[in-house]
Amino acid sequence: MTLNLFDDTAPDEPSTRQLAPGALLLRGFVQGESDGGNEGSSTAMLADIEAITSQAPFRHLVTPGGFTMSVAMSNCGQLGWVSSRRGYRYVSADPISGNPWPCMPASWLALASRAATAAGYPGFVPDACLINQYAPGSKMSLHQDRDEHDLSQPIVSLSLGLPAVFLFGGLKRSDKPQRVPLQHGDVVVWGGPTRLAFHGVMPLEEGEHALLGRRRINLTFRCASC
Ligand code: SIN
Ligand code: FE2
Repeated sequence: MTLNLFDDTAPDEPSTRQLAPGALLLRGFVQGESDGGNEGSSTAMLADIEAITSQAPFRHLVTPGGFTMSVAMSNCGQLGWVSSRRGYRYVSADPISGNPWPCMPASWLALASRAATAAGYPGFVPDACLINQYAPGSKMSLHQDRDEHDLSQPIVSLSLGLPAVFLFGGLKRSDKPQRVPLQHGDVVVWGGPTRLAFHGVMPLEEGEHALLGRRRINLTFRCASC
């Protein structure tokens, strides 16, 4: 048996854990099974992800330093985050097609706003959603989310599919990050004193998820130009 000192609720019940001041883990915030397509169903979200990425396909971006990222990315919303040799930035059109990014589904907006409120950040209305797809072995190095205009707005990050170990560090790259196991349906919200915390994801372990198969998808909601 694993002793969990932080969380004494049953595994399937939503619960909240503080990771650091201003940073919360909302466990099981999105439920696994269809609830008839209402906001919060991951089956409905997966159909939305498929519709969005049929318009704006997943792609492996290149960092300013010339490395190809192992995570494949797409976006929806008014703005999308991209990286190239020219740097990191938010753009209103998909550089591949020249078309605006697909709209953010209203149910996603409601979900992100509800998660932010639950974490103590009422009134969050994201204009950007980065969609990260991890295959086994994909990882994300420690970084800060700092390309957004208003850093008083939090980050809302939803995990779907295979489990991952999220690294949540401090305000300095050298601060030792805590290892936070994330499961399908978990949401992490960070802002306020930890808005610029370094964070990343350990290489994804091999596995097969009942709904998403051999992958993890992370949706990161941000106010990029609010
Ligand atoms: C990110 O920092 O953009 C992604 C975090 C995650 O995949 O959990
Ligand atoms: Fe990030």
